[in-house]
Amino acid sequence: MGTGQFSVRPAKDGDRRALAVLFAAVAEERDGIAAEPPIDVDKLAESWKTDGTLVALADSDIVGEIRVDPTWMGFGEIGMMVAADWRGRGVGKALLAAAVEWARVRGLHKLALSVFPHNSAAITLYRKFGFVEEGRLVRHVRRADGQLWDLIEMGLLL
Ligand SMILES: CC(C)(COP(=O)(O)OP(=O)(O)OC[C@H]1O[C@@H](n2cnc3c(N)ncnc32)[C@H](O)[C@@H]1OP(=O)(O)O)[C@@H](O)C(=O)NCCC(=O)NCCS
Repeated sequence: MGTGQFSVRPAKDGDRRALAVLFAAVAEERDGIAAEPPIDVDKLAESWKTDGTLVALADSDIVGEIRVDPTWMGFGEIGMMVAADWRGRGVGKALLAAAVEWARVRGLHKLALSVFPHNSAAITLYRKFGFVEEGRLVRHVRRADGQLWDLIEMGLLL
């Protein structure tokens, strides 16, 4: 656990491995994100698109990330995560604020995301920024254990 202070900046090439390691750790939780173990960290690090990724740093460690993937239809899709021991300390809010700004500057008209219905931390965070629920995909995601989870689609007009 660090000092509690963190900063947000665009991702750099040298962040790829730390980003992939963070992703793998959050996937291990089998709760907030759709990906589940095993994650091929080397492959993920190699393929990570840094343009549109913003990172939260504490003592030069990556403690959170958000990605905006602009689509040809003009909206951006986002995905985000914060390291477990950094949650509840404002990192998510700072990342989301930076991503909204990033998207506005690039002229995107909307941000969209998918979230599991049980993920109340994420849903509360998104609602705080004005995201609204636009639909529900029923029994959409098959988990490794065979369960079928719904997804809520949320959107924010910029
Ligand atoms: C969702 C997630 C990114 C939030 O990040 P965070 O750094 O913990 O969020 P913050 O500390 O900035 O909190 C932002 C707001 O979210 C809400 N929130 C945070 N944690 C919460 C919790 N456990 N329960 C309910 N609301 C919560 C609060 O309203 C909070 O605002 P407040 O501080 O003004 O009360 C983080 O929990 C996470 O990485 N989860 C695992 C991965 C994941 O689920 N990613 C999203 C996939 S859609």
